[in-house]
Amino acid sequence: MCGIVGAVAQRNITPILLQGLKRLEYRGYDSCGVALHVDGALTRSRSTSRVADLESQVEKAGLSGFTGIAHTRWATHGAPASHNAHPHFSRERIALVHNGIIENHDELRAELSAAGYVFESQTDTEVIAHLVDSMYTGDLFETVQQAVKRLHGAYAIAVFCRDEPHRVVGARQGSPLIVGVGKGENFLASDAMALAGTTDQIIYLEEGDVVDLQLQRYWIVDGSGRPAEREVRTVHAHTGAAELGPYRHYMQKEIFEQPRAIADTLEGVTAVMPELFGDKAYNIFKKIDSVLILACGTSFYAGVTAKYWIEAIAKIPVNVEIASEYRYRESVPNPNALVVTISQSGETADTLAALKHARSQDMLNTLTICNVATSAMVRECKLAYITHAGVEVGVASTKAFTTQLTALFLLALSLAQVRGRLSEEEEAAHLKAMRHLPAAVTAVLALEPQIIAWAEEFSRKENALFLGRGMHYPIALEGALKLKEISYIHAEAYPAGELKHGPLALVTQEMPVVTVAPNDALIEKLKSNMQEVRARGGQLYVFADADSRISSSEGVHVIRLPEHYGMLSPILHVVPLQMLAYHTALARGTDVDKPRNLAKSVTVE
Ligand code: G6P
Repeated sequence: MCGIVGAVAQRNITPILLQGLKRLEYRGYDSCGVALHVDGALTRSRSTSRVADLESQVEKAGLSGFTGIAHTRWATHGAPASHNAHPHFSRERIALVHNGIIENHDELRAELSAAGYVFESQTDTEVIAHLVDSMYTGDLFETVQQAVKRLHGAYAIAVFCRDEPHRVVGARQGSPLIVGVGKGENFLASDAMALAGTTDQIIYLEEGDVVDLQLQRYWIVDGSGRPAEREVRTVHAHTGAAELGPYRHYMQKEIFEQPRAIADTLEGVTAVMPELFGDKAYNIFKKIDSVLILACGTSFYAGVTAKYWIEAIAKIPVNVEIASEYRYRESVPNPNALVVTISQSGETADTLAALKHARSQDMLNTLTICNVATSAMVRECKLAYITHAGVEVGVASTKAFTTQLTALFLLALSLAQVRGRLSEEEEAAHLKAMRHLPAAVTAVLALEPQIIAWAEEFSRKENALFLGRGMHYPIALEGALKLKEISYIHAEAYPAGELKHGPLALVTQEMPVVTVAPNDALIEKLKSNMQEVRARGGQLYVFADADSRISSSEGVHVIRLPEHYGMLSPILHVVPLQMLAYHTALARGTDVDKPRNLAKSVTVE
C-alpha cells in the first residue's frame, strides 16, 4: 500500500528516494512518483508502471536535487492513472505525498474550488496540497500544523515548498511515518527498511506528530503543538531485496522457507513459560478470564485456529473478530480479557484501530503476535511475541501464517501452564513435536510435484470449494483465500458438516472440492461429507494423512501427507494448499507476487 520517502540533504537525493521506493514496492502499488526542488522550482516525474520505469524517466530527464519526496500509490480515490499519482502540486508552490484516506475531502474540495483552486486529479490527496497552499504563512511547519487540524481520517504526509528549499515537513495520524536522522541530512519514510543503507537512526512518530526536517536539525511537535521528545533508535532494517535464488517467485521461496522460519520463531524456546511473551506476561495471564483475538486476512485465520487450540488446551473462552468489524461494533467490553492482535506487518490500519478501540474500553491486557519488531503494533501492546519469519515479500502470506500459528500454539501452552493445566509430560511432548515441525513441514514440501499435476486441472476451473472440520476449518478458509488471491479463481471454504445447508447446491462434476483430511477424531464424519459430494458427481481433491485410510477412486483424487501430527496438524495441512494456489496461479499466468488490486501492507481503512 502507499509508501512515502522524503529527504533534505546536501547531496543529490534522487537515488535515495528511488531506492526507498523500491524497498517499499513489496507493500503493493499501482503508480509512483517523485518530486524535487530544482533551481527554485518544483519538478516531478510520475509513472503508472513500476519504480524501475520511474527510475529510467528520472535518469532520462537528468532529475537531481537536494530536497524532495517520493511515493508509491495504491489507488483508493481515483483510478491508477498518471494524473492521480503522487506527488501532487498546488500552484507550483507546494508538493505533497500522502498515505491514508481523508474522509472530509469532498467538503474541503468544494471549499477550495470555491476559493479558485483547480483540481487535476480525483484524489483526496490533492485536497491536502491545496489546503496547505491556501493556509501557507511563509512557514511550512507552522502551516502544516494548522492544516492537519482540518483533516478527518487517516494520513501520513510529506510536503515541501518551493519557497523553503531546505525543508521537508511530515505529519502522521493513523498511517505510519518514521524519521531517519542523518548527519547534516534528514529523511522521512513509511518504514525503516526504505532507508536501509542511508541511516539506521530512526524515530517512530506518534499519532498526531508533525515533524520539521531541515539539514542540521529536526523538530517534532505533538498533536496539540507541544514540543515532543521522541526516542532515536538504532534499527538494523532488512532490505527485503532478498535474492530469489532457485525460485521463480517470492511466494514460492517463502513457502519453501517455512521450515527455517518456524525454527527461527522457536529459537531459544527451551521450555513453555509465559515470559516468552514479555516480563509482565505471568501476571497478566494469571488474571485474564478470556481471550479476544483481533486480526485481518490471513492473520485472522491464524486467530481462528488459535481459538481451537486455546479452548482445548488452556480451557479459556476465546472470541476471534475481524478487526474492521470489531472496531465499529457495539461489543461488551471485558477488562479481564487478554486482547491479542495478530499481524504480519504490525501496521494494518484496521487491526491497529481495533486495538485502540479495545483499549478505549478499558481492555488493557494487550499482546501482539507480530513479524516486525519495530512496528506500531509491537510498540502499542504490553506483551509481544515476535515471529521470525523474515521479510515476507509475496502479497499472499505464507511463512508469516505458519510462524503465527507456531507462536499461537506456544501461547495456548503458556496459558494452560499458568492455569495448572499443562503437566510436565504434556509440555515435553508438545515441545518435542514443535521442535520436529521444521522436518515435518519439509516432508510436506516434497509433495510439490504431485500438487503441480493437480494445479494444471485447477487452472481450468473458475470455482472451487474447500472443506475442513474442527481446527482444520480455518485451514480450509486459508486455502480458499490463497487460491482466490493469486489465481483469481472463486473459492469458498466451509466446515464440511455445513455442506448440506447450502453449498451442496453448487456441487456438480465441474466443481473441484478440496478436502483437508487429517486423521483426527472427526475423520469418519468427514468421510461421510465426502460421500455427499461424490453422490452429486463432485470431484474430490483430498489432502489426507497417511494413516487416514482414504484412497483414490473414481472422482476421488488423493495426495498423502505424512502420518497425523496431532494438535499441530494445521501447520502441516496449510502447506499443500499454499502450493496448490501458487502452482494454479502460475499455470494461469497471473502476477503471483503482486496480485491485482491487493497490497501487502494495508495501512488504510
Ligand atoms: C493484506 C495482506 C494479507 C494479510 C492482511 C493482514 O490483506 O495482503 O496477506 O494477511 O493484509 O495483514 P497483517 O500484516 O496485519 O497480517
